[in-house]
Amino acid sequence: MVVVLGACPADDDPAAEPLFPADYTATFREVRPCRRSGDHDLAYVKIWADPIAFEAYSTRTVPFPEGSIVVKEEYANDACTELDGWTVMRREAGFDPAHGDWHWQRVEVGRRVSEDGRLERCQSCHADCGVAPDGHDGTCSVVE
Ligand code: HEC
Repeated sequence: MVVVLGACPADDDPAAEPLFPADYTATFREVRPCRRSGDHDLAYVKIWADPIAFEAYSTRTVPFPEGSIVVKEEYANDACTELDGWTVMRREAGFDPAHGDWHWQRVEVGRRVSEDGRLERCQSCHADCGVAPDGHDGTCSVVE
């Protein structure tokens, strides 16, 4: 796998705002509890879906509607108390039709956006994850 550090210039906007609100836990629902990550970069994760994404994420019977936001919290410890940052996917009609119209971000603690856009590294894994029975519309988390 080719690891691209930083996106290509057109997709790398250091001034980007996070795709999810700061108070997301007030409106999003936790769809996967604290678990060890299947992605080797990370230790432990929790996953949250916004109200638009919730049905698609939890039932896997309908596509994600436009505006769906899915947030993965990344933690350093197995109790999921030491937050390390987030990765985010938001579905935006016309944003990237060849890759499911997902807009990808990595966001640091403090909400600085460190990666943003049509990120090839995220797409490549998530396209593979999107194959049943392990995924749905490019999400990777398995039901446990
Ligand atoms: C090496 C493969 C891989 C790469 C690269 C990858 N992911 Fe993931 N991603 C996963 C896996 C596996 C999960 C399921 C949760 C877990 O085990 O961490 C996941 C879960 C997620 C989720 C939660 C929704 C879900 O269930 O899929 C988001 C959001 C996410 N990743 C965003 C990103 C972003 C943004 C990038 C690029 C910066 C990225 N991912 C790159 C493998 C990957």
